[in-house]
Amino acid sequence: MTLQISGLTSGYGRSSVLQGVDLDVPDGRVLGLLGRNGVGKTTLIHTVMGLVRPTGGSITLDGEELAGRRSDQVARAGLALVPQGRRIWPNLDVTEHLDLASRRGGGAGIWTVPKILELLPRLGERRNHLGGQLSGGEQQMLAIARALLTGPRMLLMDEPSDGLAPTIVDQIGGVIGTLKEQGVTVLLVEQDLHLAFLVADKIAVMVKGQIAHRCSTADFRADEPTARRLLGVA
Ligand SMILES: Nc1ncnc2c1ncn2[C@@H]1O[C@H](COP(=O)(O)OP(=O)(O)OP(=O)(O)O)[C@@H](O)[C@H]1O
Ligand SMILES: [Mg+2]
Repeated sequence: MTLQISGLTSGYGRSSVLQGVDLDVPDGRVLGLLGRNGVGKTTLIHTVMGLVRPTGGSITLDGEELAGRRSDQVARAGLALVPQGRRIWPNLDVTEHLDLASRRGGGAGIWTVPKILELLPRLGERRNHLGGQLSGGEQQMLAIARALLTGPRMLLMDEPSDGLAPTIVDQIGGVIGTLKEQGVTVLLVEQDLHLAFLVADKIAVMVKGQIAHRCSTADFRADEPTARRLLGVA
């Protein structure tokens, strides 16, 4: 599904964070959204998900207007969030997480528990472990599984590599690649250039609540001065 965002503004009370975001994520693609801490990346995907109320602008999914909808309506339209910090329940085991998410998804979409365990076999091996006993990488896999079980056609992933060792980040990259092959569209918020470069077709960079730069991943990789200027890294 194609997500199109235009002139989107939102914030918290009197503090406005999104200052008119224009961005589109084409069907079947992975868009890497980069930006320094605090520029508004999470606010953007929370606004898209209906968790923060937009004050202006438009969010359409295959042409259907989502701005101002509740998060459950947005989920039904085909979007799912893999939240920053994973938000795993420490006292529920893996099976309980998957059961809860399946029930919430109501059997929507193509993702069933057996299919998820094929994609993420480590979760099957750890099925009786509590959330709090899982490694960071396993928790991230579980957060992805939970989102898929709600039956989305597009995933909004908020810094999935955060705090993970490089080999685990590569595994997450492999999972995102497989999802893309299966037709899932992905908006990937990242600070880790390695993961974004591994899986993203295009890169957008957010600065102070707006999209300041957009190009193909190959062009972004080749343009070190721009990366340094917008992100403070090379
Ligand atoms: N619930 C909230 N209430 C008030 N202000 C908030 C809230 N959440 C975020 N903000 C503020 O909005 C701005 C953007 O925050 P946001 O979390 O969207 O940034 P981010 O780009 O995701 O940062 P990071 O890379 O650190 O996750 C920041 O100034 C932040 O302090
Ligand atoms: Mg964030």
